[in-house]
Amino acid sequence: MALQSNIKVVTTHILNEMKLRGVKISMLTAYDYSMARIIDQAGIDVILVGDSASNVMAGFQSTLPITLDHMIYHASSVVRAVNRALVVVDLPFGTYQGNSKEALASSIRIMKETGAHAVKLEGGEEVKESVMRILSAGIPVMGHLGLTPQSIHKFGTYVVRAREKDEAEKLVKDAHILEDIGCFAIVIEKIPAKLAARVAKEVHIPIIGIGAGHEVDGQVLVLHDMLGITQKFSPRFLRRYHNLSEEITGAVKNYIADVKNVDFPNDKEQY
Ligand code: KIV
Repeated sequence: MALQSNIKVVTTHILNEMKLRGVKISMLTAYDYSMARIIDQAGIDVILVGDSASNVMAGFQSTLPITLDHMIYHASSVVRAVNRALVVVDLPFGTYQGNSKEALASSIRIMKETGAHAVKLEGGEEVKESVMRILSAGIPVMGHLGLTPQSIHKFGTYVVRAREKDEAEKLVKDAHILEDIGCFAIVIEKIPAKLAARVAKEVHIPIIGIGAGHEVDGQVLVLHDMLGITQKFSPRFLRRYHNLSEEITGAVKNYIADVKNVDFPNDKEQY
């Protein structure tokens, strides 16, 4: 625990050290300057500029529509706010699959134009070549296995992944591949807790879970979900720490009433 309070700047090496020492890693998403500033000052270890911005910020049904330019806009806003956390940026759908040169070019744009510290991409063996080429440029890569939302049209549903033996074994194999080629960490999403625990035990890089139980090296949630800004999305794994939607609604209703009643601004609130 001493490690946590002493960290001035979180690096990929520090995350590794945290795994070795059994200090859990905290990770949340952020997509804009103001929120990133709050969560960085609160002491979050890793900020993910997730492609969940597609849902949360832009209102799309999936993560597929968000573009590299959009991600760069969000990531550069986040980086301007952050002093301590490691900032990881999702490579959006269509910018790395099946073309390792494009994967490298997309990653270089993210690193150059945002000042972020690492990229994240979805998949195992099938994206191995892309991951290796990105790593060859000295760009740290975080993997993402299990429920990978960019493949939603292949899965057809957001249910728990890797319940069946074949898919579970493929996931374990993919985690080893990502570790062997040099990823610094892996997110595993919505898989049985027992399987997640096995992965965290078998591989030596940090495993960050979302809907994957507590026997992993850290946890990630979407900020707007855990703060209760989004309301419709309520999977079993989501703990809401606040009901910000209700609080904002109350504040806005009070403001509307004050304006209508000419209660705002009062004499002290004018020049
Ligand atoms: O985009 C995202 O928010 C993510 C997390 C759910 C891990 O990938």
